[in-house]
Amino acid sequence: MRDEEGAFTDPIYISRERRNEVTPPEAQSEMKRGMAAHSPEGIVDLRSDTITRPTAEMRRAMSAAEVGDDVYGEDPTVNRLEERAAEIFGKEGALFVPTGCMGNLIAIKIWTHHGDEVICEERSHVNLYELASMSAIAGCMPRVARGEDGILSWPAIEAVIRPKIYYDSQSALLCLENTSNMTGGIVYPTKVVEELCGRAHEAGLKVHLDGARIFNAAVALGESVAQMTRRVDSVMFCLSKGLGAPVGSMLAGSRAFIEKARVYRKMFGGGMRQAGILAAAGLIAIEKSPLRLHEDHANAKLLAQGIAEIPRLELDPAKVRTNIIIFGCAKTGMTAVEFCEALKAQGVWAQDTAQYSVRLVTHCDVDRAGCQRALGVLRTVAGA
Ligand SMILES: Cc1ncc(COP(=O)(O)O)c(C=O)c1O
Repeated sequence: MRDEEGAFTDPIYISRERRNEVTPPEAQSEMKRGMAAHSPEGIVDLRSDTITRPTAEMRRAMSAAEVGDDVYGEDPTVNRLEERAAEIFGKEGALFVPTGCMGNLIAIKIWTHHGDEVICEERSHVNLYELASMSAIAGCMPRVARGEDGILSWPAIEAVIRPKIYYDSQSALLCLENTSNMTGGIVYPTKVVEELCGRAHEAGLKVHLDGARIFNAAVALGESVAQMTRRVDSVMFCLSKGLGAPVGSMLAGSRAFIEKARVYRKMFGGGMRQAGILAAAGLIAIEKSPLRLHEDHANAKLLAQGIAEIPRLELDPAKVRTNIIIFGCAKTGMTAVEFCEALKAQGVWAQDTAQYSVRLVTHCDVDRAGCQRALGVLRTVAGA
């Protein structure tokens, strides 16, 4: 429900806002990066890797960044970031965009016409967490399929492709997500991505990859992102999640795709001026941050193994290969919201993702000691 001015009044929205409220001032002083974030009296914030703050090196690079007006194409740091991203992904071009949501929306807009359908996994970010922008702005309808642990198979996709009949809406785009966030950071095997791309192309569909956490997938697979995204038509990845940059995502694809993306970025309000300040952090994020992601994965594994031993929590630790852990808490008798509130009261912040599902995400601002402390609190709250 909304009030006269359109603001949400529904208690669900209000409580969700409160749960995600900004770090209170008293906690901020304890959260100086790499110091007390994991200390016994500090807070261990495992809600998301989006909460990571820029490193000292990023901050230095930001303050020293050479800048210009990027709408005129004159920001040398943005240009460098775009060139490097294209090179790393083996694509003809790349574009710096303010957010992952905007990157996905631009790709959907480019690959579809109003009235088309976009095939995506039921629990994917584009379907659930982008405010229906593919419908509201790009004029498309999501056509969901379900994949085991979020990994789509060709039979699941083929079953939802619309027949080519003039009185049916048409399937235009397949959108994959790697890693799959809401199924616990599950990684698409590259062979599967390649097969899906081949079949989708044969069926006349374009393929966009929401690779918000593609570097986590690359580390888990031991493959390069270029190899993993060779056959997709476009890919979006985030600088501002596990890679630790403060703002920004990248879109990569063919030269023609990027030319169109630049137009839609401006149309959607994402044309930025001296954005080199942000791109400077992004450059460090793509060059250096992937080299440490294995630490986050090892911490996630530690948490997963510990959680699997807590009798009232449900998780298969073998499935945890990247930085996301989603476990069931139904047997504790608490809902996920209640469980997260109980954790928070003891300084461990987690995110409810469904009525009885809780998500933890490891990242560079929580170290091993922080994860061990979180495990202790999880045991206490679950009554182990
Ligand atoms: C899988 C996935 N895609 C896209 C996004 C959107 O990124 P942003 O928050 O930068 O818009 C997110 C953000 O959490 C995500 O997890």
